[in-house]
Amino acid sequence: TIYEKTATSPVNIAVIKYWGKRDTTLILPTNASLSVTLSQDHLHSKTTIRASPDFEKTRLWLNGVEDVDIEKNKRLQNCFRETRRLRKEYEEKLRKDKGPDKVLPLSEYNLHICSENNFPTAAGLASSASGFACLVYTLSQLYELPISAAELSKIARQGSGSACRSLFGGFVAWEMGSKDDGSDSQAVEIAPRDHWPELEALICIVSDAKKGVSSTEGMQNTVNTSTLLQHRIEHVVPVRMKNMIDAIHERDFQKFAEITMQDSNQFHAVCLDTFPPIFYLNDVSRAIIRMITEYNSTNSEKKLKAAYTFDAGPNAVIYTTSENIPEIINLIAKYFPGNDDVKNYFSDPFQLFVGKTIGEQPLPLGFNDQIIPVFPKGSVKQILHTKVGDGPKVVVGE
Ligand code: DP6
Repeated sequence: TIYEKTATSPVNIAVIKYWGKRDTTLILPTNASLSVTLSQDHLHSKTTIRASPDFEKTRLWLNGVEDVDIEKNKRLQNCFRETRRLRKEYEEKLRKDKGPDKVLPLSEYNLHICSENNFPTAAGLASSASGFACLVYTLSQLYELPISAAELSKIARQGSGSACRSLFGGFVAWEMGSKDDGSDSQAVEIAPRDHWPELEALICIVSDAKKGVSSTEGMQNTVNTSTLLQHRIEHVVPVRMKNMIDAIHERDFQKFAEITMQDSNQFHAVCLDTFPPIFYLNDVSRAIIRMITEYNSTNSEKKLKAAYTFDAGPNAVIYTTSENIPEIINLIAKYFPGNDDVKNYFSDPFQLFVGKTIGEQPLPLGFNDQIIPVFPKGSVKQILHTKVGDGPKVVVGE
């Protein structure tokens, strides 16, 4: 007999960045963070978990390739141990309520786990957040755990910090908490997906190379050497969290865009303040910052129309509202002409633009096209147009 469950989980992109741990085992952060969940139509992890008394050991396949070192992977083992412990508690309760022979001892069975991303990991997009969120969510569904998403987020957090924010759709905060055992360090929903339907995202793939310094290693070096980080933790993030939550509640794109860009900038400043310094942005990333800055200064009311943000790599995520999408895609196509070789990199249902313009859009009025260098072909390999999405869901009937 085999018991099986399949579920999918979304990618999230932070607008207030998590960077720094106060506990590296429990994965407790030095500051709160806030992210937008992206639509699973475009990007998701999908995990199938089978449990059986006949499985000799627990095994894991990532994108079709078996990971043979899972015993040594502490983060993975922490997620297994915590969900299994909850299942055991639940089984004991069921045994009391319903009688001993009515309960499946799933907590004693080994597991076979297959996890896949519908986006190539070569696209340089973080997959650990959606991957760990999906593992923990699918386990909770297989084990039928009576548990809230916030409680589950504390387990996903022990797989990868940013994974805790992928347990919800819409707009999600990770409350840092203050307790040593991590019991108050969890994700909460700030607003659901349909709260701000005009908000959309363009993911610009600048490089598909694996990043130099991993987030895990980089942020620990920052904690140990950066004095700017201390200032950020104490004086900047608490104020930004409050203002960002207000901006989202009020659907105030001005406030949202300003804080998003400032926080991305400060995160990369903190990386530069690390010793030895860490560089995640490259020339193309910096030219995208220039382009968005110029774009934002072109309208007479000086209204911000787009916001860039960068994680631990050179790829840009641009948040904007629906009406600006064609203009921005045209600007990227003009200055970062893309690479036709990767045209079929993403198949449907991706909306993919590779060096393509949408109709013949004129430059926005007053746009100074002298300040943006035109990059060689391939500098933005592809643009992925996506929007705000839902949290994890069970896949039925497969
Ligand atoms: C720059 O969650 O990947 O994307 O907790 O060590 O697994 P670990 O790190 P990770 O760090 C993400 C860092 C970031 C900012 C963010 O997503 O908030």
